[in-house]
Amino acid sequence: MLQRLGGACLLSAASALGQDDIAIIWADFLGWLKSAKPSQDPGVLIRGYRRHLLERGVPDQEAGSRIARIMERMRTNSDGWRQIFNNIYASADGGFSTRPNALLVSAVENRTPGKALDAGMGQGRNSIFLAAKGWQVTGFDISDGGIQIAQKNAASAGLKINTIVADGAHFDYGSSRWDLIVITYEPFPVSDPGSVQRIRDALRPEGFLVVESFASDEGTAGRKPVDIDPARLLRAMLPLRILRLEDTVDIADWTLEKARLVRLVAQKP
Ligand SMILES: C[S@@+](CC[C@H](N)C(=O)[O-])C[C@H]1O[C@@H](n2cnc3c(N)ncnc32)[C@H](O)[C@@H]1O
Repeated sequence: MLQRLGGACLLSAASALGQDDIAIIWADFLGWLKSAKPSQDPGVLIRGYRRHLLERGVPDQEAGSRIARIMERMRTNSDGWRQIFNNIYASADGGFSTRPNALLVSAVENRTPGKALDAGMGQGRNSIFLAAKGWQVTGFDISDGGIQIAQKNAASAGLKINTIVADGAHFDYGSSRWDLIVITYEPFPVSDPGSVQRIRDALRPEGFLVVESFASDEGTAGRKPVDIDPARLLRAMLPLRILRLEDTVDIADWTLEKARLVRLVAQKP
């Protein structure tokens, strides 16, 4: 059982976590996130919350178990991601690239601009690049903080982009709607046939898909939500023409450090 002590929750060491307790743990974490010091690294936030629990007198083992519950919940509940990314976008540290993704830049070279969708657009680095090239861009993201920055940057550049605050799990991609779909470093559940089908259906004939993210094989311990299994991605997109597929080590646009990356450019026949 969790006991509320002056706004703080303490869990007795012997008790097992029930559904209600998990709801309290989750609410406490989200409450803490709102006032947490901005950081570019989600790991810093998670470690910060653990420290906060320990400072509040939560035993070490219990703090670990709460963190495990939070991580588990984050895989299925996007509220945490909104707040984590709002926190990241409020940070002044440069932990990610604000330039357009290089794979996207090369993929659109010499192509006639059309309608583009930037899924999980973040601060809009790719949307703004595409708009400047004459594309009619729509971008969505769960982080309203990211979208505000994207709109501000677009306005300063004298460009128009259409933005929507939305969870990718519920976003209406439409059917035969986009000449280009961009997914860079955004959680893309390639193992879920429904999600994959939605993306493929949303492309117009001859429309193309650009994907880049961190790569790891399914089942690897400690995978990040944005990790993509390259073999899975290839299998998911085989009905498309695969124009480029790389499973490589290179500097990631996010973290700006060397990492295993997957890159895909594919076109709908
Ligand atoms: C690592 S950032 C990448 C942002 C952008 N695509 C880029 O490459 O700069 C991941 C983005 O995915 C967004 N995101 C995470 N989960 C999401 C979801 N379920 N629906 C929509 N956006 C989501 C985050 O808010 C964040 O802006």
